[in-house]
Amino acid sequence: MKYFKLFNILGATFGAIIQAELLNTNYRVNQPIINVVDVKKQNGVVCLPDFFPLQDYDPMRPASIPSYSLPQYDENKYTGPNSELDSDILDLLNSLSLEEKAGQMIQLQVGLFIGCDGLINTTAIESMFDEWKIGSVLEATQNRRSRWNINSPQRFANFTNTIQNIALKKGSKIPIIYGLDSIRGANYVKGGTIFPAPVNIAATFNHIHAYNCGKISAKDSRSAGVHWVFSPLADVNMNKLWSRNFENFGEDPYLAGEMVYHSIKGLQGDYKNDRSKVAACVKHFIGYSSPINGQDRQISLIPWNFLLEYLVPPFKRAIDSGVATVMETYGQLNFQSTISSNKILGELLRIELGFNGTLISDWGEVNSQCYRYKTAFDIEDAVRMTLNNGSLDMSMTPDDVMFAKSTIDLVRSGKVDVKRIDESVGRILQLKKDLGLFASPYSDPKLIETVGSIQDVELSRDAARESLILLKNENNALPLSTSEKVLFVGAAFDSITYTTGAWSQHWQGPNEFEGDKVYDIYGESINSGVRNITGNDTNYIVGYDINGVRSHGYKKVVKAARTADKVVFILGEKPSTEEVGNIRTLRMAEDQYNLVKSVSDLTDTPIILILAQNRPFSLGELSSEASAIMNIGLPGPYSGIPIAEVLYGKFSPSGRQPYTYPKLDYQASVTYYTPQWNEFDPEFSFGQGIGYNNITYSEITVNSTELRPGRPISVSVTAKNHGIMVQNEPVLLFTAQLVRRFHVSELYRLRAFDKQFISPGASYTFNFILTAEEMSFINMDMNRVLSEGPVNITINAFNDNAKIAQVYLYEN
Ligand code: BGC
Repeated sequence: MKYFKLFNILGATFGAIIQAELLNTNYRVNQPIINVVDVKKQNGVVCLPDFFPLQDYDPMRPASIPSYSLPQYDENKYTGPNSELDSDILDLLNSLSLEEKAGQMIQLQVGLFIGCDGLINTTAIESMFDEWKIGSVLEATQNRRSRWNINSPQRFANFTNTIQNIALKKGSKIPIIYGLDSIRGANYVKGGTIFPAPVNIAATFNHIHAYNCGKISAKDSRSAGVHWVFSPLADVNMNKLWSRNFENFGEDPYLAGEMVYHSIKGLQGDYKNDRSKVAACVKHFIGYSSPINGQDRQISLIPWNFLLEYLVPPFKRAIDSGVATVMETYGQLNFQSTISSNKILGELLRIELGFNGTLISDWGEVNSQCYRYKTAFDIEDAVRMTLNNGSLDMSMTPDDVMFAKSTIDLVRSGKVDVKRIDESVGRILQLKKDLGLFASPYSDPKLIETVGSIQDVELSRDAARESLILLKNENNALPLSTSEKVLFVGAAFDSITYTTGAWSQHWQGPNEFEGDKVYDIYGESINSGVRNITGNDTNYIVGYDINGVRSHGYKKVVKAARTADKVVFILGEKPSTEEVGNIRTLRMAEDQYNLVKSVSDLTDTPIILILAQNRPFSLGELSSEASAIMNIGLPGPYSGIPIAEVLYGKFSPSGRQPYTYPKLDYQASVTYYTPQWNEFDPEFSFGQGIGYNNITYSEITVNSTELRPGRPISVSVTAKNHGIMVQNEPVLLFTAQLVRRFHVSELYRLRAFDKQFISPGASYTFNFILTAEEMSFINMDMNRVLSEGPVNITINAFNDNAKIAQVYLYEN
């Protein structure tokens, strides 16, 4: 647990109360004296409490020019880390002292450089760089008791440039690389265009959105002097209780791999030449997404063949795309400590997957070996094992310099070979050179005016539009008409914060006290989207809070529903991630079920459910009581308009489920690639989703019914739009091997997808290539093998208009 981060949240609430007191002019003059033990002082001055939220909203905004263009670079060629260092980097490396080398290997969090008054503490920076020659800094100041709540790009850049300036004058005088969690756009930079959560990007089944998000995220980050983003996540969601489902691209290795690949292309592009790009960091290697009980950072027990078949492929795609850096994961895999594992970080990552770039630890993970997991006797032991067994290059320490100190001591005492240190420092220096940090270490002020441009915001809206998944629509309950009287219920209806989720403005999203205020002008709630589209005020009762607990107007809902034509319930989830977001059941608060049920029992008004969630909460009987259900995931700050548009029929939805939606807790770990004879009875399946149009499919044509290694076959199918609206139609191609000797085969596997606009009355023919090699799998001996047998090619499995063609798979 990042206690510092957690305290920040709690501190914000307490601090707000303290601040309210301070601002209150009606305080009693003779207040009792309360003894406060251990008040923090600096040079005799009493400090503000830690994490004091000054509510000092940065009034600066980027110019956000409506449109812009940046120089184009060739992004099609492979650009990634090389196995060899450039000769000037080698010379630099050889010129460094052991202390300077060790300093390059640590990354500190920015809170260490903020004074207790919330302002930048240059003395602290100078002395740290002088003594420890720090290589990297991470984090957003707003998560660290800074003066400004959310920094505008200008102010963020002032911060990073100040640190850079000191780094260039003190210690090793090597520029720092600044890292930040930009999970869905530059989500910590005020005005930076925030995109829908990755799970929504996956739901679009259109990788252009992953690319766009990466591209804009890179430029906005770079404007603030951030060179390295800890994104994308390539973890494949294996447990629906897990608090980080929304940060990933769903449960399918192929889909996740495609999205990861294109995210990295967008983030990095030609990063060795293009200064509007950043280094991406694919994370968390590996096995993080399968906590045995669904709780964050709990043990993962994963058969090695399963790991290679389902969890490694998205990381492989990341490396294929040239990802510059990788983050190892928290904890252990099969009881082996990941950070010190040669099998995981040596054999698998470096040798088998051929990763040449920089490997960073997750937060405090080296120290955690002794403090948390008890897999090391002390810090020096932890550092020694990390260096000698694993392949880590940089430690996100992030609060101390023990990693550097221990590294120096270990090399001096001969317990770690200096060649091992050179290997890592060489990679770090090369990364800095590739990003242009030696030539231009400071942020580019010209990029600032592009931040928050309408051009970017529209791309975020496009992604949100395509990510909305219509799962049920009986009696054409949707779309709504402007002449209907619609009642909207639920706290998430009127909140940008709740439809965006965590990793936005703050680690856990804005706190209760701040609410949407911190979004400033950047974004719109569903409520304002609906007002915008209908031109009318909305008929809205809060009914229940974001935790689903009854609140303002709960008792009025049934009465109001009687006089409405339709009731739309927005079911939300409080923004959270990591351990803060742990839950024990997928069941929602009872008040929420009871309210929807009462409307269903006591009125004839059709019910529409909108699910705004990090993860799939159980719908129970609400599923049959609702006439329409739409899963909107966490579509981000610019989704109010797209959601209103889809509700009022301005376009036809086109999202598809990127994960299996369980009915009950026992299905939390069920994926659609379960063995084919296994129970598969979820609420909604992977790939499920409909639009407003009736789309039919022709029979599938294949150019051969024999599928053999080295002889790909072509597969075509034609979709026809019988509706009256344009349909953006995703087509998903699955295979199912009906019989496979020895190793059970899965119900389905996704092999390809495509998406095209089809006008009313028009048809479109989708063409795919299928290879026998794709049908191979990892057996218990860890070999990739083919096993002959009949194979069904299924288009749009799990949807009513699915089509099947059969071929036969041969081993040679
Ligand atoms: C998370 C990482 C993140 C890091 C830095 C960790 O707790 O697991 O995903 O990049 O913190 O904030």
